[in-house]
Amino acid sequence: MVRALLPLGAALLGATAVLAADIPTCSLNKKCPEEAPCCSQYNQCGVGAYCLGGCDPRMSFSLDSCVPAPVCQDKVYKMDSLDRYKDISEYLGDPSKADWVGQGEPLVYDGNVLLTMPAKSVGTVLATTTYMWYGKVKARMKTSRGAGVVTAFILFSDVKDEIDYEFVGVDLQTAQTNYYFQGIPDYVNGGNITIEGANSYDEFHDYEIEWTPDEIKWIVDGKLGRTKKRSETWNATSNQWGFPQTPSRVQISIWPGGADTNAKGTVDWAGGAIDWNSEEIKHFGYYFATFAEVSVECYKTDSAPGTHKGVSYYYNNIAGTNDTVVDSDKPTVLKSFAGTGTDMDKGDGTSGDASQSSSVNTIPGGGSNQVPGGSNPGSGSGSGTGGSGSTGTSGSSACAASGFSQHCDDESSGGGGGGNNSNNGARGVDRTLGASAFAVIVGIAGLLLL
Ligand SMILES: *[C@@H]1O[C@H](CO)[C@@H](O)[C@H](O)[C@H]1NC(C)=O
Ligand SMILES: *[C@@H]1O[C@H](CO)[C@@H](O)[C@H](O)[C@H]1NC(C)=O
Ligand SMILES: *[C@@H]1O[C@H](CO)[C@@H](O)[C@H](O)[C@H]1NC(C)=O
Ligand SMILES: *[C@@H]1O[C@H](CO)[C@@H](O)[C@H](O)[C@H]1NC(C)=O
Repeated sequence: MVRALLPLGAALLGATAVLAADIPTCSLNKKCPEEAPCCSQYNQCGVGAYCLGGCDPRMSFSLDSCVPAPVCQDKVYKMDSLDRYKDISEYLGDPSKADWVGQGEPLVYDGNVLLTMPAKSVGTVLATTTYMWYGKVKARMKTSRGAGVVTAFILFSDVKDEIDYEFVGVDLQTAQTNYYFQGIPDYVNGGNITIEGANSYDEFHDYEIEWTPDEIKWIVDGKLGRTKKRSETWNATSNQWGFPQTPSRVQISIWPGGADTNAKGTVDWAGGAIDWNSEEIKHFGYYFATFAEVSVECYKTDSAPGTHKGVSYYYNNIAGTNDTVVDSDKPTVLKSFAGTGTDMDKGDGTSGDASQSSSVNTIPGGGSNQVPGGSNPGSGSGSGTGGSGSTGTSGSSACAASGFSQHCDDESSGGGGGGNNSNNGARGVDRTLGASAFAVIVGIAGLLLL
């Protein structure tokens, strides 16, 4: 049976072979090498941003290769500006400097944040800079629409626990829900919730996840849509609960499930091939999902699991279960992109350090770019400078798999260029971005489903 819906984490294993042959890959059985010790969310090894959000300690060179993760903060993220957003090439781990970190083209329109997906791009993904260890998270949002267009609002941990809302653009009446333990694909975890009212595209709806050590509740517009209890998830083979239990970032995204580089199962699940000449693209220049507000309420408890008393979380055991998470006072900020969890002060921003990291990758999805001495390659806000070039992707055949590459833009500018829609000039940004998260996803699904 063809599996259409892959867990984000599992979907990525092996992708790098296709997308970035020059970057070492990592898995549970193949940890990163000492010189590039951090295993990113996308299962590639590097330093710098590879060691920040998404870094998997189980697959990294050592447990402390990843930088400790900022603890939960109660917060209402009013999505009306990008002042608190940084591209991953501009963020060194200090959550006081940014609420969201991401890749792609977010922009502000009409008092909301749009996550956009221009023609033949891989979309946009944003993640919170702090982690939630149980608690409540709510997004007030409108999904995108159209065949092959996927909108997602998920919790995702560094050991790849995952709690999802996913929306496919051909079914605007359904919120698909799912969960995974450590990225292990399980075919029976899904569940659908019917969206009342007109649909998920035209109106804002509130999508909420209430997560405790004992259960997950998915609540839509204040109405309980689904409950999953931990007690229902015992895995007798592995002798543990197959239940999400580790600190997670909130991730919101739009991505092309129906890109022609994807496996048929994924394309089918996403509602068919994506149309890069759709009304949406002609009129606006991109597909988009709209976010008005995201709010996080940390879990209230005095003892682990689920606390947020300290500065950061780290794992003290490769098991990656909730009893291996430590709520600690360890710092979370790198001095430069040359740093790692075991050498956080490496590089001081002067050019002399560049040689030390000369052949090591520093920005996941950015190909084999280097960040000399930690100087910031990104100039503008959210301008997608994450990969100084397309070095990470050799497949010239697929625009979608090589990120926001300039020539794909050129091809589509005839169709999409007109719909400028006065979005703060953000359409004018340089779209050159190396293989991003979603490029990797797009590339991988095929491999897994062969
Ligand atoms: C959820 O709905 C989609 C159609 O939107 C369908 O393809 C899928 O099989 C449903 N999943 C479950 C678990 O019922
Ligand atoms: C139970 O755990 C084993 C070992 O990790 C895994 O292979 C299997 O898929 C799990 N079963 C379920 C239903 O998640
Ligand atoms: C998390 O930890 C608590 C206390 O250590 C334990 O009772 C609970 O079963 C754990 N939850 C999961 C999902 O493993
Ligand atoms: C695009 O937006 C800019 C700035 O908002 C505006 O000056 C320009 O006229 C717009 N172009 C089109 C084709 O709408």
